[in-house]
Formats: sequence, C-alpha cells, structure tokens
Amino acid sequence: LERTFSIIKPDATNRNLTGAINAVFEKAGLRIVAQKRVRMTREQAETFYAVHKERPFFGELVEFMISAPVVVQVLEGENAVAKHREVMGATNPANAAEGTVRKLYALSVGENSVHGSDSLDNAKIEIAQFFSGNEIVG
Ligand code: GTP
Ligand code: MG
Repeated sequence: LERTFSIIKPDATNRNLTGAINAVFEKAGLRIVAQKRVRMTREQAETFYAVHKERPFFGELVEFMISAPVVVQVLEGENAVAKHREVMGATNPANAAEGTVRKLYALSVGENSVHGSDSLDNAKIEIAQFFSGNEIVG
C-alpha cells in the first residue's frame, strides 16, 4: 500500500468542512493513518511550497496557508498518490470534475481547500515535514 500527504487548507477549516472532505477521501478507499490540526508557521509554509517561490502567487499562497488552522494527514491505500489527486480534482475548481473535492468545495484557484502530494517521492518528503514515524499508525 502507498501513502500520500494531504492538507485540508484554511478555506475549508474556516467553513467546518474537514469531515465532509474526509468523507470523500474515505469513500474513495483512502484510509487516514495519521492526522493533526496545526497552525503552520510562516517558515513551515515557505519550506513546504519552496518549489513555487519564484511564482507570482507565492506570497499570497504563504499568507493563505498561515491564515487559519490546517489539518495535515497521511492517507494510505492502493495507488494512494494518484487516487488522492484524482478525487481532489483540478487545481482550479473551474476545471475540476464533478464529485471531486475541489468541484464541491473550493472557492478559487488559490483557496482550493486541499493539497495532495504529486509523486511518491514528494509524499515521503512532505510526510516527514509534519510527522515522525511513530505518529503514523496504519
Ligand atoms: P497542491 O496540492 O496544493 O500542491 O495543488 P496543485 O498541485 O494542484 O497545484 P500547484 O502545486 O501547481 O500549486 C500549489 C498551490 O498554489 C495550489 O494548490 C494553489 O493553492 C496555489 N496556486 C496555484 N496557482 C495559483 C494562482 O494562480 N493564484 C493563487 N493565488 N494561488 C495559486
Ligand atoms: Mg502541487
């Protein structure tokens, strides 16, 4: 079984949507094997999104991610990385397929409710940024 890293972002925690979003993931066969609610520090958000630091929206992205609590979690399942991305839907909710989390709940391309790792290598790196091994219980 594969593991991937998931974040329920501030726009979703603000609207009390964590359970509704996790219901979509669980229905898709993904199991929550680690979970915590945290307020990201600026440093954590900048490190997490470092690949985007030259993009024009980087500042806005960091401010958004630290604006309210997030839920960070590890999801486990068959092809978890790809399955999670599929049920999240396209980055811009205007392009997201019916039934996906972003189609259902995202507000805009920036405030798009969820993050999911884009590869197995990145999943391992991202999980390690927020969880120690003994916090993941499969
Ligand atoms: P993540 O799972 O969050 O990494 O989303 P993604 O892989 O679908 O998108 P990408 O990695 O390209 O972008 C990372 C995040 O930056 C997105 O989820 C958005 O929150 C934000 N983002 C991307 N494009 C824009 C944009 O044009 N404007 C703003 N404000 N934010 C953006
Ligand atoms: Mg991404």
